[in-house]
Amino acid sequence: MSGVPSVEPLPQGVVTLADHEQHAVKRLDANALAYFAGGAADELTLRSNRAAWDAIQLSPRVLRNLVGGHTRTTLFGFTLAHPILLAPVAFQRMAHRDGEMATAYAAGMQGAGLVLSSQSSVLLEHVAQAVLPERQRGPLWFQLYFQHDRGFTEQLVRRAESAGYEALVVTIDAPSSGVRDRERRAGFKLPPGISAVNLAGLPPPKPVMLDEHQSRMFDALMTVAPTWKDIEWLRSLTRLPIVLKGIMHPGDAQLAAQHGADGIIVSNHGGRTLDTLPATAAVLPRIRVAMGPEFPILVDGGIRRGTDVFKAIALGADAVLIGRPYVFGLANAGAMGVSHVLRLLRDELEIAMALCGCATLADINADALFS
Ligand SMILES: Cc1cc2nc3c(=O)[nH]c(=O)nc-3n(C[C@H](O)[C@H](O)[C@H](O)COP(=O)(O)O)c2cc1C
Repeated sequence: MSGVPSVEPLPQGVVTLADHEQHAVKRLDANALAYFAGGAADELTLRSNRAAWDAIQLSPRVLRNLVGGHTRTTLFGFTLAHPILLAPVAFQRMAHRDGEMATAYAAGMQGAGLVLSSQSSVLLEHVAQAVLPERQRGPLWFQLYFQHDRGFTEQLVRRAESAGYEALVVTIDAPSSGVRDRERRAGFKLPPGISAVNLAGLPPPKPVMLDEHQSRMFDALMTVAPTWKDIEWLRSLTRLPIVLKGIMHPGDAQLAAQHGADGIIVSNHGGRTLDTLPATAAVLPRIRVAMGPEFPILVDGGIRRGTDVFKAIALGADAVLIGRPYVFGLANAGAMGVSHVLRLLRDELEIAMALCGCATLADINADALFS
């Protein structure tokens, strides 16, 4: 679909991102809920992400002059009204019939950066057409999964470039799917009519004949998985900024920069790939130390409050992304729901800044955290 999304009322009594989640849990069917809300295996990382932000306490300073404060920041030459972006989330038409179109309009209205998934259920060109004319919009980035066919991967890059996307977010933490117990219990499958439309025409992988000593993982899937060489190849292919998503180790952050990445997203895929990883809040500070003060670092995972955004900035992030919360907003009220989630988070961030004595994001640092 490519029309203007429907306008729907917000559900009564929903005033936080957690309220949106509680409400959406009742609206989504069991299939969609397992997909959107679930994490990998025992969901320990899913819970750690959240718990880690909760465990950090703030250390406010008072009586400072905050007149003229703002939440603006700059990434790759683009000025953002605030540091909150929408993370790539696949198959959003499973949450609401307007799917990614609703998300696109909401991002445009709220000046939020939008990272569209390779596996979106609306064509990347249609989403770009909805976002780019919006004057208040934030940056528009395309999330790239390397496909087994590198020629097709290149075509995706060219399509993203010609549609007007302003950076490529290459997700590198999921060469295999995680162990998704919740989805398997629910017997998850994509409903009819919903598919990864950008990937239509992808040639099927060449069949691999494995002998009994070979592994489907290492002798089939991993033969087409990307490596650092592919990042160099991508770097040679495009002038768009490249952001690697799914970095959890300072050594990989440094390799990312060495291989031509312009920024990274500290992410454990919202606890959906490998379980028992540490929370992103726990690894972010050491990655910032390894990369120095200038290298662009974003973070996602478990961000549900303006105070979480504030803490992420204090720990060294330049900006944050949210995943599930906006999909819950989408399920509750389409574009209005996504817009509401963003507005709540922006307002909460401003309140946290004012109450901590920080007029701008540049004023937020480790001194604002209680330790
Ligand atoms: C249902 C779902 C689908 C996702 N699909 C993608 C995807 O297609 N590409 C990607 O890079 N990340 C994907 N992610 C990960 C998100 O981009 C993000 O890292 C994560 O949701 C952040 O955690 P949060 O949901 O706690 O905010 C997905 C996450 C969810 C919940």
